[in-house]
Amino acid sequence: MAVNFNDHYHPLLLKQVPEGALTALDVGCGTGRFARLLAGQGLDTEGVDAHADVIEAAQASGGGPRYRQADVNQLQLPDAHYDFISCIASLHHMPFDSILTLRKALAPGGVLAVLGLYPADTATDFVSALPAMCLLRADRLLSRRNPAPPVQVPIVWPPPMTYAETRAESARLLPGSTLRRLLFWRYLLVYRATEAYASG
Ligand SMILES: C[S@@+](CC[C@H](N)C(=O)[O-])C[C@H]1O[C@@H](n2cnc3c(N)ncnc32)[C@H](O)[C@@H]1O
Repeated sequence: MAVNFNDHYHPLLLKQVPEGALTALDVGCGTGRFARLLAGQGLDTEGVDAHADVIEAAQASGGGPRYRQADVNQLQLPDAHYDFISCIASLHHMPFDSILTLRKALAPGGVLAVLGLYPADTATDFVSALPAMCLLRADRLLSRRNPAPPVQVPIVWPPPMTYAETRAESARLLPGSTLRRLLFWRYLLVYRATEAYASG
């Protein structure tokens, strides 16, 4: 498949990295494309993914990050450690309150950025999804000519929580977070740990 709605948002996600950040964790990192971008920005980057095949492919691609195969909820993440945690198209594979585990691992001033998915449930959702539907249809036609990638990441569809449910739960669990609707069935949830960033 040529079109990738998650990779499209990598530049937007990189903009959420706080100034002076040194450490990063990419949760549900898949084959490591975003983890490698973070490492390329000079961050000490870890990637974690529950799926053995994709972690193997990530490791084979090299590029700087360290990878672990694990369910992030079973890991003992260090408290108050990461300056940036990303979660790209993976939160809907887990219980939503996994964001509390991630919040605990954020250093003071650190940022959690979730590129999440929601199903088309309301008229507004359908309008936001229209460009994605057209692109997918075109992509299906074109991809008959393109070979499939060697490793496929696991997919969960439809995502279990609507946009309205995501808004309510993120306000409850991460007060002060912001949520915005993006094109292609996606949202961006950003939470900044409140205390001042501890530099030096
Ligand atoms: C749709 S893929 C997205 C992968 C990657 N972030 C990307 O943008 O290509 C979701 C990933 O989350 C991983 N995942 C699902 N549940 C997980 C968990 N509890 N802990 C760690 N990774 C998980 C899956 O194995 C899968 O690779």
